[in-house]
Amino acid sequence: MDKHRKYIIAGNWKMNKTSGESVELADAVIKEIGDQASVDVVLCPPFTSIAAVSSVVEGSPVKLGAQNIHPASSGAYTGEVSAEMLRYFYPTYVILGHSERRKYFNETDAFINEKVLAAFAGNLKPILCVGETLEERESGKTLEVVDTQIRGCLVDVSEKDAENLVVAYEPVWAIGTGKTATPQIAQEVHDSIRHILSDLFGQEAAQRIRIQYGGSMKPDNARDLLSQTDIDGGLIGGAALNAKSFTDIVNAAVSLDSEE
Ligand code: 13P
Repeated sequence: MDKHRKYIIAGNWKMNKTSGESVELADAVIKEIGDQASVDVVLCPPFTSIAAVSSVVEGSPVKLGAQNIHPASSGAYTGEVSAEMLRYFYPTYVILGHSERRKYFNETDAFINEKVLAAFAGNLKPILCVGETLEERESGKTLEVVDTQIRGCLVDVSEKDAENLVVAYEPVWAIGTGKTATPQIAQEVHDSIRHILSDLFGQEAAQRIRIQYGGSMKPDNARDLLSQTDIDGGLIGGAALNAKSFTDIVNAAVSLDSEE
């Protein structure tokens, strides 16, 4: 099997870990994965740990990601952080449009779109999260919801920028619940996402864009999910808070990559 895309395993630490704990976790991850570079590994700590984790990952193959940005570069936006401010810590990625931000902070596709454009302008690669709620799935609206989110969040993104985009399919009903989408359910949605991306950016670009799965991915289900044709990585919440479970998922991707 040749998927032509490099796996990307990212840990979304959400609102967890003090800066001291973040250093410990990042250190342990780096020790465990060594200098392997066949899989992209990304750590997304909270803002308060960005500086500390930036120093830890420097010189290692592990990349740094943020969990959010504001679209403006500076200004009167109390409590917010811009891509401009982050760039001193050399982050590579930024998670945007996570369902928790949509739900608890009322982020809309239009606002997320502004952030996506600001991320590209600031040399950050967006990890754009999309996914349906349980109610939407049960009423047969999954593909419609995902289609609306992707198109709404990617207005005015160029084909060239799109190649630096990562999409994360995170069914809301699978996040933090222990309920994982079956590999077949996930693959079906990933395949549809690639068709939407192809419609927006052309087939060649769409083949290069990596689509991660997120939602209760754990060491024991990672291999089955990652072996699907259109699943190019994982966005890991709970299991990323522990070095062993996170690196076990990374190692599942490394071993699949070596079998290709
Ligand atoms: P869990 O892995 O805890 O389900 O979280 C997934 C997620 O939301 C990653 O962004």
